[in-house]
Amino acid sequence: MAYRRITPKGIADSWRAQSWAIRVLRAWLAITWIYAGWDKATDPGFLTKGETGFIGDQLIGYSTNSPISWLFNSLIEHATAVGMFVIFSEFAIGIATLLWIAPTSAAFGGFLMSIVLWLASTFYISPYFLGSDTAYAVLWLVYFLTLVGNRRTVDIALDRRGAIRVGLLSVAAIASGLVGKAFAKVSEKPNTTVSGTSQIIELSKINVGETHQFALSNGMPAIIFRTKTGVFAYSATCTHEGCTVAYQSSNKSLYCPCHGAEFDPFKNGGVITGPTRDALPTVKVAISGDWVVLA
Ligand code: FES
Repeated sequence: MAYRRITPKGIADSWRAQSWAIRVLRAWLAITWIYAGWDKATDPGFLTKGETGFIGDQLIGYSTNSPISWLFNSLIEHATAVGMFVIFSEFAIGIATLLWIAPTSAAFGGFLMSIVLWLASTFYISPYFLGSDTAYAVLWLVYFLTLVGNRRTVDIALDRRGAIRVGLLSVAAIASGLVGKAFAKVSEKPNTTVSGTSQIIELSKINVGETHQFALSNGMPAIIFRTKTGVFAYSATCTHEGCTVAYQSSNKSLYCPCHGAEFDPFKNGGVITGPTRDALPTVKVAISGDWVVLA
């Protein structure tokens, strides 16, 4: 697949000068990275401690399951800053790729980000092709190599015009993150109690068909289901890397926002969709008088 060396005068020229194969690759990568930034920016829990999907919970998972766990361990206390950096980086790389701003640096940035994500969350997924980060790392690497072409060195020096465009890109990335925050989805944070004793919640406060999240005495999240036949509960800590799962009434599953694992609460917490293969542990609960209690 030949790549024509170009000196694009504008965005349109940059697209015109590329082959269809590279255009498709470039568009896919750019849109995916912008969407990833938008998805995080509009997630009400991503930057908020205690919410489902909080970046800090993901870092805790990475710090115990990644081959570079030491790195993620040191980032946990800066979780919110890390989350903001991820959002702005994804917007910046996506917009730069789309609009041909420092394209070689953007492609290399996309490659590096995919490698870090792979080491963070999908390194142990087996077979390897079920993890998307390796595929994205390869796609970015291919795109980067087509841009570099046969050059022996990669010139990333910027002239004045280039510096202005990169400055505008930074502003656009930050503005996109702020706009995303303005469009944040409504948090569906459940009513949560801490169970220091065996009493969890009054029976009258959880109707048949409802769920209730609570914290076990060790601080770990759990979730109760009340059905016509009684109550049952599971640990809400994902068996993949420890993020908190939440109940989705639309498809009647417990969903992990970190890497998309799904569990069936009506089949012993079994796995519907990986990457994990382990069911959610059950938490023994019972009805005692007017209360749901730990059994
Ligand atoms: S932590 Fe990875 S799927 Fe839940």
